[in-house]
Amino acid sequence: MTHFPETFPVPLIRLAETDSTSLYLRNRCHGQELKEGTTVTADFQTSGRGQRGNSWESEKGRNLLFSFVLYPSFLEARRQFLLSQMTSLAIKEELDTYAEGFSVKWPNDIYWQNQKICGILIENELMGSTISQSIAGIGINLNQDVFHSPAPNPVSLKQITGETYDPVAVLGKVMQRVREYYSQLQKEETASITARYQDALFRKEGMYRYKDATGTFLARIVEVEPSGQLILQDEAGEKRRYVFKEVQYIL
Ligand code: BTN
Repeated sequence: MTHFPETFPVPLIRLAETDSTSLYLRNRCHGQELKEGTTVTADFQTSGRGQRGNSWESEKGRNLLFSFVLYPSFLEARRQFLLSQMTSLAIKEELDTYAEGFSVKWPNDIYWQNQKICGILIENELMGSTISQSIAGIGINLNQDVFHSPAPNPVSLKQITGETYDPVAVLGKVMQRVREYYSQLQKEETASITARYQDALFRKEGMYRYKDATGTFLARIVEVEPSGQLILQDEAGEKRRYVFKEVQYIL
């Protein structure tokens, strides 16, 4: 385990291997409060967790796997989607410095063209109506050449640019951006976070195919509401509103 508190934007714990950086961080947060922003990264996870109970595939030492903890007790639970927005933007905007074509697929996947380069899993703990602890777990595909699981349409930064990347160097730059966005959030400067998020959306313009419980349909994105709900408008002009997992993008 190594700490680089002076040169790094946040306190850092580096691990060769763990079950999951998010589980590790959650366990470390029990009993003692780690400094806000504390970040855990690992070369390999034996049970990396994804959305919908899926596992997260990542070859040893090739990608960036990390989790960080925040204590946004100033933020009401009904505004928790701001944490997804700022985290997605920090990563998307860092990736923009390496290549073109990145976007945020609602609610918080990072895509390059039609492929997923990054997954984010945010787990919040509430105290009354506010958020006492938020652990964001992030996997960014940096240097992996071949993916064994076809879902969810993965791509790595190396496959896009042909270059290889130092995961901890990329992590430092991402966490610097997270710090900047978080300080905006603390100062209630949320309008620009929300506007940038809408602007960064995958398929923000145009009609595309989606699938919900009623079947497939063509629609355009109207907006993502502050609650995090996605509003689509179908060909008949009807607005359809979804929470995460209720609608699927047909790629
Ligand atoms: C998704 O399914 O899109 C979310 C994937 C999140 C994976 C990351 S890897 C680091 C952190 N630790 C985990 O176990 N999961 C997250």
